[in-house]
Amino acid sequence: MQSFWSRLSGGLRQFAAGRAWVWILLAAPMVMMLTFLALMASEQGDTVQRPAPVRVSGEAAIGGPFELVAHTGETVTDQTFRGKALLIYFGYTYCPDVCPFSLQILASAMDRLSEEERSAFQPLLITVDPERDTVDQLAQYVTSPAFPDGLIGLTGSPEQVAAAAGAYRVAYRRAGEGDDYLMDHSSIIYLMDAEGNFVDIFAHGSDPQMIAARLQDFLEQNRSS
Ligand code: NI
Repeated sequence: MQSFWSRLSGGLRQFAAGRAWVWILLAAPMVMMLTFLALMASEQGDTVQRPAPVRVSGEAAIGGPFELVAHTGETVTDQTFRGKALLIYFGYTYCPDVCPFSLQILASAMDRLSEEERSAFQPLLITVDPERDTVDQLAQYVTSPAFPDGLIGLTGSPEQVAAAAGAYRVAYRRAGEGDDYLMDHSSIIYLMDAEGNFVDIFAHGSDPQMIAARLQDFLEQNRSS
């Protein structure tokens, strides 16, 4: 009897141990799959909910009034551009890579739009380097065929530029000495609607196709509202 029970319990233990391995083998991929699905769900949630906090508040957390000087020499304010959605980039013409790269991405995005769609947007380059970016310097720079058609360059006094950058929460500072200094600066494209309200931002290095799709979505939403 003794050996029967011990053999039986030994067999049950082995059986249980065997089953445990089966469960572990089954559970491992299931846990991985559930984790993957949970991650997918949370990322989709992020994408959908990202603009919500700004919209819900009803207040423009980004943007605001500014007064600057266009590359044509005329003084402009945020009111000057009412009626057109704005694509605003803060940078400077002596920037070796970041600014030209971003402006080319914006050009590439806008090239994907129809002429009619494109006409709804006004691209703006606001300098963070008013010392070197004079009206003439900007006028030369914005006509580069690599940049968006109709790009308007804006400069002003250091105070005017600081006020505009502050409204858009753009950080910038001089880096280096002498005439060949660089400017450290945020590299973000802002989409503002035709009334000057913040709509969206495009991070540095965004895909032109994604930007174009977002701009078309924006036009679609504004058409139906
Ligand atoms: Ni730059």
